[in-house]
Amino acid sequence: MTTGRGMVTGTSAGTINAVSVARPPRLRGTISPPGDKSISHRAVMLNSLATGAARIKNYSAGLDCASTVEIVRRLGVEIETSPDSSGGPDILTVHGVGMDGFEEPSSVLDAGNSGTTARLMSGLVAGRRFQAILTGDDSLRSRPMARVVRPLLEMGAHIHARGGDRFAPIVFAGGELHGVDYRLPVASAQVKSCILFAGLRARGETIIRSPAISRDHSERMLSAMGAPVAVDDKIVSIAPSELRAVDVQVPGDVSSATFWLVAAAVHPDAEIRLRDVGLNPTRTGALSALREMGADIQVENEREVAGEPIGDLVARSSALHGIEVGGDIVPLLIDEIPVLAVAAAMAEGDTCIRDAGELRVKESDRIAATVEWLRAVGVDVKEESDGMTIRGRGELRGATIDSYGDHRMAMAQAVGGLVATTPIHVERASAADVSYPNFWRDLETVAGTVG
Ligand code: S3P
Repeated sequence: MTTGRGMVTGTSAGTINAVSVARPPRLRGTISPPGDKSISHRAVMLNSLATGAARIKNYSAGLDCASTVEIVRRLGVEIETSPDSSGGPDILTVHGVGMDGFEEPSSVLDAGNSGTTARLMSGLVAGRRFQAILTGDDSLRSRPMARVVRPLLEMGAHIHARGGDRFAPIVFAGGELHGVDYRLPVASAQVKSCILFAGLRARGETIIRSPAISRDHSERMLSAMGAPVAVDDKIVSIAPSELRAVDVQVPGDVSSATFWLVAAAVHPDAEIRLRDVGLNPTRTGALSALREMGADIQVENEREVAGEPIGDLVARSSALHGIEVGGDIVPLLIDEIPVLAVAAAMAEGDTCIRDAGELRVKESDRIAATVEWLRAVGVDVKEESDGMTIRGRGELRGATIDSYGDHRMAMAQAVGGLVATTPIHVERASAADVSYPNFWRDLETVAGTVG
């Protein structure tokens, strides 16, 4: 990848292995972030078991959501793609097979790098009249799976997983599901959704009690598809149900949008507009945190599309100050912490991030990774078991750093490069493809290097 003024330079034309990001004089432009990853997964998974066909527009172009499509196809579901005349990504048409329609897969189900695929599909594959094996890449095979294996075993599924039921590969070997009353040890939307999905085919009622509110896309979509889901604050319940197919217009991913919100806030001459961004309140913790730090972010054109609130965001250069992040807001911004850390480093004063121990079991250990790369670019950071304290000084310097093979780390580091005093070289930058394949192109757009 090359550019007119060399703001972003890559070492190879196809896959981007290493990218150099230098501070441009200004950031300007309008970006449509990719389709929301969480909603995309759910739209394909739930429609695959529905009665009827559904069209899904603006499906996430990232590799994670491609893993979900591939797995669902291996389970016998037909998914067609057709061009979107309005210029968006291909439209998917999912031909639902009905609640009991999955077929025995003839090979292993590969979730790649995607924890959401592995955990949510576990709820849909458990307790079937066939055997299936689910696995993933090196990162996914090191991430905790007991959190889904345990409740599914309790529901009557026959499951084994590597390392004493703790890691993928996971083997599913039938069983008869019945409802449970389950208390989640962590506020995980993935685990909540896995149990809800299993509850669709379980005898009796399934109740899930969470320690804090987490993203509610599953609840919204299940209810739009006719399933009896009841939500009472942190308690969600479901009874067995068929689903009717629903078309989904996937909103832009607010987690992807946050890279640009931070970029605009920390750059001295910036105005970036983000179109059609999902603004579900269980996902907008980073927006609140950035505003609390002093970021100038306007929401325009708010509306509702397919049961999810969306709007346009406009972010501008801002003087930021440190804040405390902890408690119930953490699940509402968990994926955004790697880039919020850049905002914290560019702010005046300390930002303390606590209650975020879950970051240690994401695509990388995002606490250790963030502390390490921020130190490499000159930031004073103190590591804690469940977070970090960042001493903001309003300055980053250049360095060569590794993405840890983690999409959100690669993109957070690139945002750092947009304000660092000398370029930041991001190695293994193609990790961004997992959620945001157009990230580097959009970066060139806002840095003013492409027309
Ligand atoms: C997701 C939930 C979150 C988040 C992940 C996507 C989802 O994980 O980190 O990127 O789509 O349900 P946890 O619920 O395990 O925290």
